[in-house]
Amino acid sequence: MSDQPLLVHTRTELADALAPARSSGQRVGFVPTMGALHQGHASLMRVAREHVHDGPVVVSIFVNPTQFAAGEDLDRYPRTLDADLELCAAAGVDVLFAPTTDEMYPAPGVITVDPGPAAEILEGASRPTHFRGVLTVVAKLFGLVRPDVAVFGEKDYQQLALITAMAADLCTGVEIVGAETVREPDGLALSSRNRYLGPERRRRAVALSQALYAAQRAAPYGLDAAWANARAELRSAHGVDLDYLEILSPDLTELPAEPEPGTPARILIAARVGTTRLIDNMPLTLGAATAREPSGGGDPTSEKE
Ligand code: PAF
Repeated sequence: MSDQPLLVHTRTELADALAPARSSGQRVGFVPTMGALHQGHASLMRVAREHVHDGPVVVSIFVNPTQFAAGEDLDRYPRTLDADLELCAAAGVDVLFAPTTDEMYPAPGVITVDPGPAAEILEGASRPTHFRGVLTVVAKLFGLVRPDVAVFGEKDYQQLALITAMAADLCTGVEIVGAETVREPDGLALSSRNRYLGPERRRRAVALSQALYAAQRAAPYGLDAAWANARAELRSAHGVDLDYLEILSPDLTELPAEPEPGTPARILIAARVGTTRLIDNMPLTLGAATAREPSGGGDPTSEKE
């Protein structure tokens, strides 16, 4: 059986837990989470371990109220501390920091991190206060944990991009590492919110990753083909209410009007399946647009006689 991580709830306990590592000059790795941990989180913990070797890996579990707007799922967000402890133990985590809201926000927050215009697109278009809350709590957690390296999932790609920019712009000295999305065998990206889906909606939710894979298959034929293939896949999906489907540069700026063959891009999707809002994304490498334009959104990768 793996050793349990040291569970701490206060800033002082956290500082005490990390004091030996700091005085011996060990690197500290950090994986911030909101709990309801799954194998996607376990993979972030393994990546953190690779970056710090014998140094401590710290995981935080804090369902941060400031990144939820009124009417979002703050109250019903799953809280599963006992199971989370087991997962952290199996992943070799050293310290689990699970603060209360008062511990993180002892006074009403006046100073917040402005995420800038990149937080107004994609997720930010329908959740205008979300990234201010995310960046503010991550900045506070960085101040408390003072990690050398922090690992975030590519699954929340816009979040990863904004945290990477914040870490650099605010001179935090924290190296930000992105870790690949972990998927179910049918392609569904692992997410704490998947547990809201009943069996029928779980089956429908696979449409998100199928649309992204369809775009990847068509990307060698150019941007329009990738786009049309993803749209065609979604047209045949039932019970999936699309919020956005965007193809952007990897840094989330607009692609050039006529991308060169080989241009890297990112396709990002958000959709509601029942009452659950899911997001996903994948990398694309755009090829040259050819004469084989997809007709009616058909799959340009399928050879038709
Ligand atoms: O991705 C998450 O779980 C949260 O947004 C984070 C980064 C832990 C901040 O609360």
